[in-house]
Amino acid sequence: MKPIIAANWKMNFTPKEGLRLIDDIISQPISSDVDIIFFPSFVSLSLVSDKLLNSPYSIGGQNIFHKENGAFTGEISASMLKALDVQYVIIGHSERRQFFHENDTQINNKIHLALKAELIPIICIGESLQERKNEQTDLVLKEQLTSAFKNIGLDNQKNIIVAYEPVWAIGTGLTAEKNKILDAHNLIKETLKNIYNFNIPVLYGGSVNADNAASLINIENVDGFLVGGASLNSDSFCQIVKNVTKKIERF
Ligand code: PGA
Repeated sequence: MKPIIAANWKMNFTPKEGLRLIDDIISQPISSDVDIIFFPSFVSLSLVSDKLLNSPYSIGGQNIFHKENGAFTGEISASMLKALDVQYVIIGHSERRQFFHENDTQINNKIHLALKAELIPIICIGESLQERKNEQTDLVLKEQLTSAFKNIGLDNQKNIIVAYEPVWAIGTGLTAEKNKILDAHNLIKETLKNIYNFNIPVLYGGSVNADNAASLINIENVDGFLVGGASLNSDSFCQIVKNVTKKIERF
């Protein structure tokens, strides 16, 4: 399995700015041993998709709505993304859970819709600071996994990615300690394997940057990264990719 590096641009960049960043990144020599996925805003998707056609890079959407279609002003469906040659979609990001009050049922619906449209969901789970302080991390992760994977058939196991993103580490500059990441990733892999017999990639996200990527990728069961802030700059993003590439032997 190749390590995966997902670049979540969040609500940044006009289409022109996004294309400039893509140009900067693809002009640098990047190893084909890493799968790189860009997640631009919806308004940039079409241009970025055209730009990356027939390239080794993939693109994804940052969200989809939890219904298939209909009168839902301002929303975007899974099939709309698919029509733009998008291959991936982020589902259940903590910012969506926190600011847009997405609940577990909606997240499960979105996963079903993504798979139906042949999009690969990157399902985000993670505990809040309070939950960690209350020693509820394992419980929260298990609950989020169980509800996300409700009625998801075994035949989908090659088409799903999970991202462990402790909420308190996202955009804060705080990274989880290595042993905490190890514990969480082991728990996620074990839970999926025991209950669903799933063996799927688990990414780490939360203040990954050019300085910490090399050591984080060495943690067992970390199959790649979901990167926010550090993906907005070509130098830091390419440095992350290089650091991951250096550690590839263990995959
Ligand atoms: P960050 O964001 O790298 O800026 O912490 C990660 C994410 O939200 O996926």
